[in-house]
Amino acid sequence: MRLTQPIIKPANPNFSSGPCAKRPGYDINQLDLSTLGRSHRSNVGKEALQKVITDTADILKLPAGYRVGIVPASDTGAMEMMMWSLLGPRPVDVCYWESFGQGWFADITKQLKLENVNEIKADYGQLPDLSKVNPANDCIFTWNGTTSGVKVENGDFISENRAGLTICDATSAVFAMPMPWEKLDVTTFSWQKVLGGEGAHGIIILSPRAVERLESHTPSWPMPKIFRLTAGGKLLEGIFKGATINTPSMLCIADYQDALNWVKSIGGVQASIQKSQSNLAVLEKFVTKNNWINFLAEKQNTRSNTSVCLSVDLNNEQLKAFIKLLTDNQVAFDIGAYKDAPSGLRIWCGSTVEQSDLEALMPWLNWAYKSVTE
Ligand SMILES: Cc1ncc(COP(=O)(O)O)c(C=O)c1O
Repeated sequence: MRLTQPIIKPANPNFSSGPCAKRPGYDINQLDLSTLGRSHRSNVGKEALQKVITDTADILKLPAGYRVGIVPASDTGAMEMMMWSLLGPRPVDVCYWESFGQGWFADITKQLKLENVNEIKADYGQLPDLSKVNPANDCIFTWNGTTSGVKVENGDFISENRAGLTICDATSAVFAMPMPWEKLDVTTFSWQKVLGGEGAHGIIILSPRAVERLESHTPSWPMPKIFRLTAGGKLLEGIFKGATINTPSMLCIADYQDALNWVKSIGGVQASIQKSQSNLAVLEKFVTKNNWINFLAEKQNTRSNTSVCLSVDLNNEQLKAFIKLLTDNQVAFDIGAYKDAPSGLRIWCGSTVEQSDLEALMPWLNWAYKSVTE
């Protein structure tokens, strides 16, 4: 018997894993646009840049001595600039379990052509054996695998006394998961994920040890201008005070400031983490009750609370029809699995998504399932 079509729809049907839903209450007219049309190097421009940097460090409670910089080309730009700048002096352990981490491995082996590389990998749904990480080596990993919905549980696999650097792509984790900053020498993220900001710029967070490496190591390969963080063996400190390498979008900066203000207004990073965890709980309850849908992450403790990936008991045609039904009814946009991941669903549960919207979506999932299978 067909289920009756639910009546209540999510107030916001945006469940994409990036760009993600704008924060609740977002109104573009509320952005402070006083910097638009001004030079980013003017006093007002630099102040706006410096303020998002300071607020980022404060809200995330970064340890003293950590630096925050705004760099070009979103999270990919941030990760590539850091790999190009830092790698070479030590062997590298590359841990990956989905397509983005695999991309960093390809960068290291095929573009940088490093030879001492240990590939520590796992299939979609699993985490690799992180005990293989050698504290003498540099280590690259993705905190939350956005395309498999598998995250590291914590930073326990990273040694406090490591000699190598940890370089962490945390783009779908920062602001939604607790980060052990003392264990992370380089962290990157972009604004369009957990904060629902605009794409374009990346953030780099550097520990003092990362800065030491930057100042003591000269890469053997050419460095494009947009990757250069040092001049004459000294860190370009201005970058970490808002003197960006090249021109940023002041509109994106205003939008990022709005997102940071929102995080502060709800109670800080702890509150934004909690929001995302409560969102995941809605899906957990649904999955427990319905045997046609399951988490791609095999273990509960590695299940992502942002990019929630789900396998479903549907063939490709049925899955397409299922997604189309939800789109056509304007209840869920962009929830298909990533193109390189196993087929299924990916429903963003980051902090800008409202729990009530996920609750409203759940009956629609059952309705769409019944509609395409009966
Ligand atoms: C884990 C991870 N790394 C890197 C990227 C690429 O990010 P960007 O488009 O900001 O460069 C993404 C995008 O979804 C991601 O999820």
